[in-house]
Amino acid sequence: MTAANRTYGAEPPRELTPAPAASSETGGGGAKAQPLEDRIAACDWKAIDSDLDEYGVGRLGPLLSRDECNELAAAYGQDKLFRSKVVMARHGFGRGEYKYFAYPLPKVITTLRTCIYPEAARTANRWADMLGSQRRYPLAHTEMLERCHKAGQTRPTPLLLRYEQGDFNCLHQDLYGEHVFPLQLVILLSDTADFEGGEFVLTEQRPRMQSRAEVVPLQQGEAALFAVNERPRKGAKGYHRTKLRHGVSRLRSGVRFTAGVIFHDAL
Ligand SMILES: [Fe+2]
Repeated sequence: MTAANRTYGAEPPRELTPAPAASSETGGGGAKAQPLEDRIAACDWKAIDSDLDEYGVGRLGPLLSRDECNELAAAYGQDKLFRSKVVMARHGFGRGEYKYFAYPLPKVITTLRTCIYPEAARTANRWADMLGSQRRYPLAHTEMLERCHKAGQTRPTPLLLRYEQGDFNCLHQDLYGEHVFPLQLVILLSDTADFEGGEFVLTEQRPRMQSRAEVVPLQQGEAALFAVNERPRKGAKGYHRTKLRHGVSRLRSGVRFTAGVIFHDAL
């Protein structure tokens, strides 16, 4: 099957192989007390929205348990799960590497993508309205993907990133075609005790003003939604457009894994 004729709903999501630590008596971390769908629904979406409006990034709190994080990080070594690997230094993107998942996505990634999307779409539509744009985003992720696929954007974009000492990710935007969903998600999979440095950073370029940086501290299993490209910002004369980029500062020691969930698919 080629990437071009894959459909996102044709195959059931993949179950990941449990990581060796999954049998801990504690259940491997507090975030896994209820199904992931319920954990997502229980996020304080009002506060997240307010932070997104104010800073261009909103933290969702701990979403994945330690075991779920370890399983995802361990999946990095299983090449059959991925459609491609990018070595950042070869492209001038930074240093470190990442891999794009193939369809069908792991179940945990599908759940994150499907259940967080409607909340993000409400924010995206509100932002479009603030910016005087006619563009609107469907509230169901299947419809957003249909839109992408009709435009030839059929390749899945969720990814795992791996950094080791000295690695970094240059400031960038994840735009993969005409259809861009304006928010995306990052989840830290590694324990913060296992690395130093490697901060997630957003910069915001404001019209006729100097750029602003935002460092987003995350704990293992914690997720943040952030603006991919542009967002509205309130000024003296109503809302104006600011441009955002994101990246990761240099890892000083250890190894750091993150998962990225982009809601549009790629050409
Ligand atoms: Fe990115």
